[in-house]
Amino acid sequence: MATHWSIIDGDKAEKYATLLPQVEALMSAETDKIANQANIVAALWQTFGFFWIGFYRVVGEQLVLGPFQGPVACTRIDKGKGVCGAAWQANKTLLVPDVNQFPGHIACASASRSEIVVPVNDARGVVTHVLDIDSDTLDAFDELDRHHLEQLAVTIASHI
Ligand code: SME
Repeated sequence: MATHWSIIDGDKAEKYATLLPQVEALMSAETDKIANQANIVAALWQTFGFFWIGFYRVVGEQLVLGPFQGPVACTRIDKGKGVCGAAWQANKTLLVPDVNQFPGHIACASASRSEIVVPVNDARGVVTHVLDIDSDTLDAFDELDRHHLEQLAVTIASHI
């Protein structure tokens, strides 16, 4: 498969608009789910320079760390725990402007200041993964991120 990947420029909206079809094209050429997860986080990390980005996948009653970019992270998170476990339990995107204000936030890296966690559902609407993105600045994510990342979650669901 083609591995050429160009740097994506523009403002945040333009970057998402360019990135999403490119991610879709990348995945249409590959059936291996881990390979696809790895390239999705790399593409987002390369485009936006996030402090930490990665997948956690649902295994029984826990989330287990998947492909990521950034500092070493917690490997297992119980259902309902932290921002990731809460997003999984509620099957809802959680946008946290200040992680220190989120009760039970799990600090894998002390530099993390704000966070967005987007669940990925299978065809039956059951959460299979969460996409977790951390920033080292406060209030780094907004409704634009939520909108595009939720769209991404739908697009990638059957490929990861
Ligand atoms: N902060 C997350 C844990 C995962 S790390 O950020 C990579 C949480 O509270 O669920």
